[in-house]
Amino acid sequence: MTQESAVLDAPDTVVRDGSNTRKVFIKTYGCQMNVYDSTRMSDALAKDGYEPTEDMEEADLVLLNTCHIREKAAEKVYSALGRLRDMKKRKAADGRAMMIGVTGCVAQAEGEEILRRAPAVDVVIGPQTYHRLPHALRRAKEGQRVVDTEYALEDKFEHLPIAEKGKIRSRGVTAFLTVQEGCDKFCTFCVVPYTRGSEVSRPVQQIVEEAEKLVDGGVREITLLGQNVNAWHGAGPNGQAWSLGDLLYRLAEIPGLARLRYTTSHPRDMDDRLIGAHSDLRKLMPYLHLPVQSGSNRILKAMNRRHTTAEYLALIDKIRSARPDIALSGDFIVGFPGETEEDFADTLKLVEDVRYAQAFSFKYSTRPGTPGAELKDQVPEEIKADRLERLQALLLKQQQEFAEACVGKVIDLLLEKPGRMPGQLIGRSPWLQSVNVDAKASQIGDIINVRITGTSTNSLFADVV
Ligand code: 5AD
Ligand code: SF4
Repeated sequence: MTQESAVLDAPDTVVRDGSNTRKVFIKTYGCQMNVYDSTRMSDALAKDGYEPTEDMEEADLVLLNTCHIREKAAEKVYSALGRLRDMKKRKAADGRAMMIGVTGCVAQAEGEEILRRAPAVDVVIGPQTYHRLPHALRRAKEGQRVVDTEYALEDKFEHLPIAEKGKIRSRGVTAFLTVQEGCDKFCTFCVVPYTRGSEVSRPVQQIVEEAEKLVDGGVREITLLGQNVNAWHGAGPNGQAWSLGDLLYRLAEIPGLARLRYTTSHPRDMDDRLIGAHSDLRKLMPYLHLPVQSGSNRILKAMNRRHTTAEYLALIDKIRSARPDIALSGDFIVGFPGETEEDFADTLKLVEDVRYAQAFSFKYSTRPGTPGAELKDQVPEEIKADRLERLQALLLKQQQEFAEACVGKVIDLLLEKPGRMPGQLIGRSPWLQSVNVDAKASQIGDIINVRITGTSTNSLFADVV
């Protein structure tokens, strides 16, 4: 262990008599990776005696885990910080100290600027240095304001505790597990390569151990996360490089783990081993998030996506032959600089060809520092809004068609949490839909057979068979 990590790992002395337990409130913005990071920060803080709370009023520490992917993210954070400043003052007047931390991608992008614009903030920590958060908080308590947005040399995952086997806090039935972070693709619209840095893959052993601990804690379904998850290439036990396909075959061997998913993938990195895993592994759910962003070859080129629509469609065919019941999901950007009505029509055409079960679509948002921001021919706001509306109408129609096609089918349902009505639970279908069914709370975590009976806007209904 290095000296630095010895310092990082030494917890504060806390008298755990209830009155002295500290509470942390974490507000998570953005993607699933932030959700995972928030859990890991919460684990790291638990060592220092912090318990999570859902009530900001009783928090001794408030963390904003921020996202920078689209516009106004930073402004949203600054206005939230304004409200927190008032709360901090009010609590101080009552003799209660409250610390404020900003983490995540806005922290990385803004750094010192946050301390300048938001004097109530105590610590600013980037996504690569979460493991130093407890240490930073101790320094903050001594009156220093801390900014730590370096790309740490040590491996943060080695330092972020996840509870010992058998002692894990309940995490529910489904969990995220980050296996890969950062991105080397440099799509011209995207800030990720700048905020999360270049691609890093965690080694196999670390991932398997974490997965086993999660399963030990009651998790039945694990979603592997990475900005470019299918580019993951971690070191295997003997130092040889593994691919994501290899990793999925290995994780599928864990007893008690029922379901595997992974997200987000880049079309360029869907190799045959991974596609093969979709036909071989029953534990690998038939759902794939495979963003294409645009259906126009000209725009794909300008976005530096490094594939054509024909290549994307051929890939989808190949995946569907390997796993015919696979549901596809995607991301789209409308109004990328230079996008004409014709380009946009190509996007609609591609959507018609693919038929998505689900999709996310966004207006292009200029990110300072990305090549897209320098391009001429920025598309006017009204045109972006109009195209987004048309695209979303089509995607919604496809989503509903997909849901309706499920009616009458008998499926495996993983029971996840209490439903809206007493006596009901919400479960997840293999295709990631929420399904309401009559079941007992004691069945949470079970996988049962149900028949889909109907649909509503965002969920399905089912009867136990
Ligand atoms: N503007 C709009 N959407 C963006 N995304 C990423 N960067 C931008 C941007 N500058 C979208 C992409 C990506 C998803 C996570 O967010 O569709 O796949
Ligand atoms: Fe951003 Fe492109 Fe990397 Fe995805 S692949 S994180 S869109 S640069």
